[in-house]
Amino acid sequence: MAISLYVFHFFNKFKVFLLVTLCLMMLWAAFSYFVDSGQTIPKLKSVGEHFGKIISLEKEEDSQKEEKMKITEGVPATKPPQGPCPALSPYLRGASKLTFSPSLTLEEVEKENPQVAEGRYHPAECSALQRVAILIPHRNRERHLLYLLEHLHPFLQRQQLEYGIYVIHQAGSTKFNRAKLLNVGYLEALKEENWDCFIFHDVDLVPENDFNIYMCDRQPKHLVVGRNSTGYRLRYQGYFGGVTALTRDQFSMVNGFSNNYWGWGGEDDDLRIRVEMQKMRVMRPSADVARYTMIFHNRDHGNEENRERMKLLRQVSRTWKTDGLNSCSYRLLSVEHNPLYINITVDFSMQPKIS
Ligand SMILES: *[C@@H]1O[C@H](CO)[C@@H](O)[C@H](O)[C@H]1NC(C)=O
Ligand SMILES: *[C@@H]1O[C@H](CO)[C@@H](O)[C@H](O)[C@H]1NC(C)=O
Repeated sequence: MAISLYVFHFFNKFKVFLLVTLCLMMLWAAFSYFVDSGQTIPKLKSVGEHFGKIISLEKEEDSQKEEKMKITEGVPATKPPQGPCPALSPYLRGASKLTFSPSLTLEEVEKENPQVAEGRYHPAECSALQRVAILIPHRNRERHLLYLLEHLHPFLQRQQLEYGIYVIHQAGSTKFNRAKLLNVGYLEALKEENWDCFIFHDVDLVPENDFNIYMCDRQPKHLVVGRNSTGYRLRYQGYFGGVTALTRDQFSMVNGFSNNYWGWGGEDDDLRIRVEMQKMRVMRPSADVARYTMIFHNRDHGNEENRERMKLLRQVSRTWKTDGLNSCSYRLLSVEHNPLYINITVDFSMQPKIS
């Protein structure tokens, strides 16, 4: 009698313990579910959906399974509630050897990407963690653009991103201004979608490894550690060119790029100085992942070396507040929504200062 009472008592205590542990675990699971990344609100919503699903499942098990199935059969197929995509996409392949076929056509690349519409894509199976705008400054590089589109679309889709590719095309014969084109891309892209993240992308660099994730981070990210043309080594300490990733807020905090770099060079160092002045720190993925193939070309006519760049770089701390996104004036000639990219064409020829 005494023993059985003891066992009963013990079991009772154990039950309470079990219950408390279970409660704690559930609380912890729910908590970690949306603390995981910064996206509190969408995840909070999906936690609700998750619990909703569990509850409805239990109900279903309780009774009339058949009846419920009959009801859902009659209802037109609505989109099932989507959870967030996983932190690491299951479709990543790692390093790949890139080839560039001289006979490739835009129509072929379009055929291979039927899920891309008007330059945009979002995964069908989950809701992407970030909405990413890829901005590519452009002039007279149709062949390079074609190769980049060929490789970038499947690359971004394997990363399960929601994205749009914007080509910012500089019309006219004014010297090329990469930085100003990127400012225009940022301002124009935000008119059609509230993008979370911006990738500033040279047209002649093709990523080799899809673990080089095209998402933004807490700090500005530089994605090109190495390229085949430099033996896959960083060009110089502090280099911040080629491909960079900044959130909408990081980019607006530094007032974007300077508009005053005409011709080749300097504008990327200027951006790095702006970033450092805001006490942000440039991050880079590991060297084995941040690898690019640079498609060979001669320097274009109209993009000669900018000899003023050293002078401009010495002035950044005085000029950044008034030279950037808030002073970027341009004449918008057209916005064309092609199947694989959005073509934003601008004219800078009204600019007074051409060195
Ligand atoms: C890098 O790879 C591209 C494409 O294969 C090629 O055209 C270019 O010549 C290579 N550059 C160097 C320096 O090997
Ligand atoms: C972008 O549009 C302009 C104006 O229609 C056109 O001249 C240019 O060739 C286009 N560029 C690309 C890369 O599609």
